[in-house]
Amino acid sequence: VASSLKIRRVAGALGAEVQGVRLSADLDEVTFTEIKQALNRHKVLFFRNQNHLGDEEQEVFAQRFGTVVPHPTVPSAEGTRALFSVDSKQGARADSWHSDMTFQPNYPKLSLLRAVVTPEAGGDTVWANTTAAYENLPEPLKRLAESLRAVHTNTYDYASSRATVSAKALEYHGVFTRENYETEHPVVRIHPETGERTLLLGHFVKKFQGVSLRDSRRIFELLQEHVVSQDNIVRWSWQPGDVAIWDNRATQHRAINDYGSEPRLLRRSTVEGETPVGLDG
Ligand code: SIN
Repeated sequence: VASSLKIRRVAGALGAEVQGVRLSADLDEVTFTEIKQALNRHKVLFFRNQNHLGDEEQEVFAQRFGTVVPHPTVPSAEGTRALFSVDSKQGARADSWHSDMTFQPNYPKLSLLRAVVTPEAGGDTVWANTTAAYENLPEPLKRLAESLRAVHTNTYDYASSRATVSAKALEYHGVFTRENYETEHPVVRIHPETGERTLLLGHFVKKFQGVSLRDSRRIFELLQEHVVSQDNIVRWSWQPGDVAIWDNRATQHRAINDYGSEPRLLRRSTVEGETPVGLDG
C-alpha cells in the first residue's frame, strides 16, 4: 500500500500536522510505520477531523504503539479500560509543564490525546522539545545536567503556583495523590529509538539526589527554563475531533488555562515506556 500522508511542520522547534489519514485500529502497516517515523522526527503530531474515533477505537488504535497503561491513581473514564479523562468539570487543568507520569520507573513513551469538547476560544496545549533543550545548553550546563539524578513524585504540589484553588481542583488533586509514587531518573536520558540525548525534568521533579531542596529548586528552574523557552515550543489550538500524539520521552507539555468555567474535555491514552537509560548506562 502506498501511503498518502502529507506532513506540514507547525513550528520551528517541533510539531507537525499530518493530513490524509483516517486513524483507526486497522490502519495499514505502511502508513502506521510512516507515522512512527514522523513522530521520532517531529516529536508531536497533530491530526484534524478524526471525529469518527470514539473511546473504544482510540483504545484499540493506541495499542498499535505498545501496551496501553491506565493512570495509577485516577480511575479510567467510565466504560473504558485505560482512557484518562482530562475534564475541566472534574478540576483537571493540566496547566503546568510536565511529561506524563514520570513518577513511574517506566513512564509512558507515548501519549495520544483526543479532543471531545473544546472551549469557544483558548484551552490550547503547548509542547516543548526536550532534545533541542539539551542540545542548545552551553557545555558547562550540559555537564551539570549529565551529573544529576532527579527524584520524581506524583505528590507534586499543584496548589503552590495558584493564588486560589477551587474545591474541584483540590478534590482532583486528592485523587491524583491518593497513593504515593516516587522514582529516580537520570536528568539526561538517551532516547532508545533516536539515540538523542534529552532532558528529563517537568513538574514531578521533587529534588536532585545529593542536592538540598533549596539548591534543587534553583537548579531545576535554571534547566527547566531552557526546556520551556518560547523558542522551543509548539502550540495547538484544538477543535473537537483533533488528535495529538507525542513522544513523551522527548517532550514536555501543558494546557493553557485561559477558558474560565467553559467545559474542556479530552481523552488520553498512554503507552508503556522503558526504564530510562542515562549516559552511564
Ligand atoms: C495532559 O497533561 O496530558 C493533558 C494536556 C491537556 O489537557 O492539554
